[in-house]
Amino acid sequence: MIPIKSQEEIEQMRLSGRLAAQTLAMIEPYVQPGVTTEALNDRCHRFILDHGAVPSPLNYRPTPQNPMGFPKSICTSVNHQVCHGIPGPRILHSGDIVNVDITVCLNGFHGDTSKTFFVGPPTSRNKKIVQVAQECLALGIQAVKPGGCFGDIGAVIELHARKNYCSVVREYCGHGIGRDFHEEPAVLHYGTRNRGATLLPGMIFTIEPMINLGKAEIKLMPDHWTVVTKDHALSAQFEHTVLMTPTGCEILTTLEDR
Ligand code: MF3
Ligand code: CO
Ligand code: CO
Repeated sequence: MIPIKSQEEIEQMRLSGRLAAQTLAMIEPYVQPGVTTEALNDRCHRFILDHGAVPSPLNYRPTPQNPMGFPKSICTSVNHQVCHGIPGPRILHSGDIVNVDITVCLNGFHGDTSKTFFVGPPTSRNKKIVQVAQECLALGIQAVKPGGCFGDIGAVIELHARKNYCSVVREYCGHGIGRDFHEEPAVLHYGTRNRGATLLPGMIFTIEPMINLGKAEIKLMPDHWTVVTKDHALSAQFEHTVLMTPTGCEILTTLEDR
């Protein structure tokens, strides 16, 4: 069952979504050559706490390999890292791209958003993969409309990636979000039009396509978190949390149009 949020829950999700967006906007000017990913983490961690929230990734999902769960407050995924990169002493250099993924929990409700930044002037490959990933998210969001279904979102993303000779990561997907960081449904970034569950008002979920410049295959690093492309080609990702409304889609993690 895909949860339908109440008006009260929707109000809370607007607040958590906005704070996640504010955190991402706050960190953007610090994404510069010479900065470490840990410095970005520490600034976001402080900002989130200062706004009365907690960073959802910190200690998220303990496993036997990682009994403390995810060790940091944000994810930073550089170049061929696809997602779930762990902030650390790595220094960002001109010519890198880095996805910064922010999830906050405010009053018990999660908001999740990410963006891929250029570090210094972008190369042509940087520009290409970041543009295609951004367009894939925009098209996915445009498919969120009355009468539509989850398959429409995946289909349009897969088609756009393919048209641009890029590939879509299949092992990780968007997700319902609310009082839980990851809820039903899994939002696939590939698929077929007119398939999957119907989009209904009150559903809240993320769309977060991971788009590769090379092949779709990925592998998990020995830290059991960082996901990288198998062929080491660049990967980029953008993410928004969206609300299905009676007339279309409301982006909860944007600072625009409010
Ligand atoms: N924010 C990621 C997502 O979009 C999940 C990160 S889980 C973590 O779903 F543990 F790696 F932080
Ligand atoms: Co997400
Ligand atoms: Co995220």
